Amino acid sequence: MCGIIGFTGYLNSAEVLLQGLSELEYRGYDSAGIACLRDGKVEIIKEVGKVSSLHAKVPADFTSSCGIGHTRWATHGGVTEVNAHPHRYGKVTLIHNGIIENYHELAEELAKGGRFPVSETDTEIAALLLDSLYTGDAYAAIKEACNHLEGAYGFCIMFDDQPEVIYCIRKGSPLVATHTDEGSVIASDMVALLRYSKDYFVLPEFHIAKMTKDAIIVTDFEGNIVNPEIMTVTWDTTAAQKNGYKHFMAKEIHEQPEALRRTIMPRIVKHAEGSELGGLSLPDFTADNIPDSLFKDVSRIIITACGTAMHAGMMGKILFERLLRKPVTVDIASEFRYEDPILDENTLVITVSQSGETADTLAALRLARENGARTLSIVNVKGSSIARESDYVFYTHAGPEIAVASTKAYTAQLSAFYMIAFRFAYVLGKITAKECSDYMEGLLDVIPSIEEVLKQEDDVEAISHHLVKAENLFFIGRSLDYALTWEGSIKLKEITYIHSEAYAAGELKHGTLSLITDGTPVIALATQSHVLSKTLSNVKEVRARGAFVICVTTKDAVIEPTLCDFRIDIPRTDDIFAPFSAAVILQMIAYHTASLRGLDVDQPRNLAKSVTVE
Ligand code: M6R
Repeated sequence: MCGIIGFTGYLNSAEVLLQGLSELEYRGYDSAGIACLRDGKVEIIKEVGKVSSLHAKVPADFTSSCGIGHTRWATHGGVTEVNAHPHRYGKVTLIHNGIIENYHELAEELAKGGRFPVSETDTEIAALLLDSLYTGDAYAAIKEACNHLEGAYGFCIMFDDQPEVIYCIRKGSPLVATHTDEGSVIASDMVALLRYSKDYFVLPEFHIAKMTKDAIIVTDFEGNIVNPEIMTVTWDTTAAQKNGYKHFMAKEIHEQPEALRRTIMPRIVKHAEGSELGGLSLPDFTADNIPDSLFKDVSRIIITACGTAMHAGMMGKILFERLLRKPVTVDIASEFRYEDPILDENTLVITVSQSGETADTLAALRLARENGARTLSIVNVKGSSIARESDYVFYTHAGPEIAVASTKAYTAQLSAFYMIAFRFAYVLGKITAKECSDYMEGLLDVIPSIEEVLKQEDDVEAISHHLVKAENLFFIGRSLDYALTWEGSIKLKEITYIHSEAYAAGELKHGTLSLITDGTPVIALATQSHVLSKTLSNVKEVRARGAFVICVTTKDAVIEPTLCDFRIDIPRTDDIFAPFSAAVILQMIAYHTASLRGLDVDQPRNLAKSVTVE
């Protein structure tokens, strides 16, 4: 939610900010703005809409060595220029990512001192507050402001009488920074730093970063200098570019074989012939520092996450219950955090998050820890808040995911659940080493299966033409296919704006069947042999009511040709691996349908990639 960037140094800050904002735009794209120091004065340029509109408004000869920039996902106040960041009051100019929950009360207090905002935003109140507290000591003003502010924030702040200096502070919302010979740069996400350095650090919460041309000094609230751990990304700038694809989503769909390879391969240990486990390939998490004891005496597992990450958890639940024979529940993080979940030291709470910054998932994790549960997170972004706050982290190595619709992160999360299920089923004696190794071979075979599925893209695109005019659509399936219907449905909804529902195939006749009329599209997932005949009976039911049926099934499945209008085959694998290939088909259907509808595939309306507000 919102992308922020600050730069002070030896480059033209306007260029650095505009470039960075276009890389951060996936975090919000309602409006954008920059504030740059020019001839000793702060000049602000804002525009409603995308960063390209802002870019067009910035004069070509606009140069500056220090500035801050923001791309907004509106929360408080409509999408207007006046509500766009940066906000300025008195000597203070700032940008903000997060929500100031008590802004109303603060505004009332500040009004008593004659300070009134011009926008409807919570952020502007923070500018008023800081200005009221600032008497020349930025540290004192920021610390005192933090005592008054409730909610989540990442701020970059410029004070008029401290030219070329940017102060930054955060609570909840992410901020990463780097310093090079070219200057100091801070942003919401590493993607905006990559062109300057692969090394970065995460600004710790409640620490103040003072950025000058020549250094970034981080201090805690007692004034002690702190040296945060320097981290390095393994990918380069091309990983965050489209590389010839029309959209990031298309590129990321096609990156899935590589993302899976990177996630699975480092976890496989092939045991030498002649040893006790001779020739077997077993998942091993020693390098992840996840001990085998983690699942020992675990009586219950709770998986909690949001959106697509939660859907990966739905798949994890089925696998864990099948293989580990432990009870598993899957909770939406925004619900879990406000209920009174039963948690103790024998409960394992698994949080899942691509960004590692989703506010509700982070809060769910904190709740689990406060109540003594063991915690493991499956996270894509290294050093993110969820990763740092979990007892154990399993990193997916999907690389940067820029499109709002999650694709490669999802299949990488699935692979994490599969490997965790296999390893701990083996450790707990539920499966033999040989069975575990066979499962791992099966998981590896998912990669060529996806490569094959990707070759069917033209066929999938042709089928998508039939969905372009749809207003409502149903996904149905049973077992693992049912878990996947949820992911198929969210993908379609978020980028095509077609209403869809995910339904357990056997549940339709309990109400929903009344919505099926002539031509209603139904995407039936039928990849699970043990329930195939049942699923096909349900397909017959919708067919009998005139549904337009697209069936995603395995190559060898015997299905009456009249049962569906289109059949899409995925390669034959053990049933438990079918969701990977089927997921890619559903991603391609959503992608092509949205693209044919002429929509902004990568940045769908009202959404943002990283949801750092609750
Ligand atoms: O970064 P996270 O995985 O925690 O994000 C969770 C959801 O916001 C995210 O998966 C969202 O549902 C996707 N845009 C769906 O494609």
